[in-house]
Amino acid sequence: MRVLGIETSCDETGVAVYDRVAGLLANRLHSQVAMHQAYGGVVPELASRDHVRRLLPLVREALLEASSDRHSIDGIAFTAGPGLIGALLVGASFARALAYAWARPVVGIHHLEGHLLAPLLEPDPPDFPFLALLVSGGHTMLVDVTGLGGYRVLGQSLDDAAGEAFDKTAKLLGLPYPGGAALAALAVRGRGGVFRFPRPMLDRPGLDFSFSGLKTAVRVALRDRALDEQTRADAAHDFEEAVIDTLTEKCRRALGATGRARLIVAGGVGANLRLRQRLCSVARECGARAYFPRPQFCTDNGAMIALAGCLRLAAGAGRAAPSAVRANWPLGETAVTGI
Ligand code: KG4
Ligand code: ZN
Repeated sequence: MRVLGIETSCDETGVAVYDRVAGLLANRLHSQVAMHQAYGGVVPELASRDHVRRLLPLVREALLEASSDRHSIDGIAFTAGPGLIGALLVGASFARALAYAWARPVVGIHHLEGHLLAPLLEPDPPDFPFLALLVSGGHTMLVDVTGLGGYRVLGQSLDDAAGEAFDKTAKLLGLPYPGGAALAALAVRGRGGVFRFPRPMLDRPGLDFSFSGLKTAVRVALRDRALDEQTRADAAHDFEEAVIDTLTEKCRRALGATGRARLIVAGGVGANLRLRQRLCSVARECGARAYFPRPQFCTDNGAMIALAGCLRLAAGAGRAAPSAVRANWPLGETAVTGI
């Protein structure tokens, strides 16, 4: 089973080829970050138009890199949601047209399922079941993963996602969008203890998160200060520590509650080095092991969609009518009943 995977849910066009036996054969990505930077966020219409421009050349490149052609591709997978509706429709229309022309099965993949399965792209993958901390620009959740399609959400953010909090705080600190990685780089030069931002939701039981108050605390703390380089670095440092304290403590609680022996991190914020170090320690203290996809598989990519598509098609998906797309699609709901 060899699958072409297509990711277009937001501002990255990702195309990859995954083979059930040989593994990942090709992975191409075009990031639109530079294009959206001037606007301080993703402009949906520009995103859709750029996906239209990039998809065909990327598919050609990926097939070449995988030494494959239409005859050696057994199926096609695309991100069916959640995401920007126009961007999703570009990927879905492209994938379905290709599947029709090549007479191959096609399957729509949940974007978060892609992120959750991304650690399986690594050479020493975790076995099921595992606990997953999914931290991206759009989502923050703890998920108990029992197998393909077995996803139980244990807790999630009640307001901003962790990546969104990173991006908004980075903006307060004068960093360009999306500022998560730049804020982390600035935090390295910061001194601990200058600021003391709140650790949201740690004072109450449960596994939900909340990050919007933290961003406000940073804004208030910086209001009457001169934003010199050291102050910005100190604020970045304590903001990052506050987010990481919250995420790691909830992981500790979730490992205790589920008894899982494996913890994986997924999504763009999972690229954060400090978070990785702290999650390793927490996992060790709980008698578990932490697994991380490499940073390029934490952020959006086609490889995770090709892999998820391969597993889904091998399990019998894709024989029914091709799936539609869905901008809002809770994880765990399998039916795609959108446009
Ligand atoms: O998973 P992703 O590529 O896109 C979504 O599906 O949302 O995640 C992007 C998010 C952005 O908010 C970005 O600022 C954040 O991941 N991010 C980071 C780091 N690298 C990317 N946040 C903190 N530290 C990083 N090193
Ligand atoms: Zn994502």
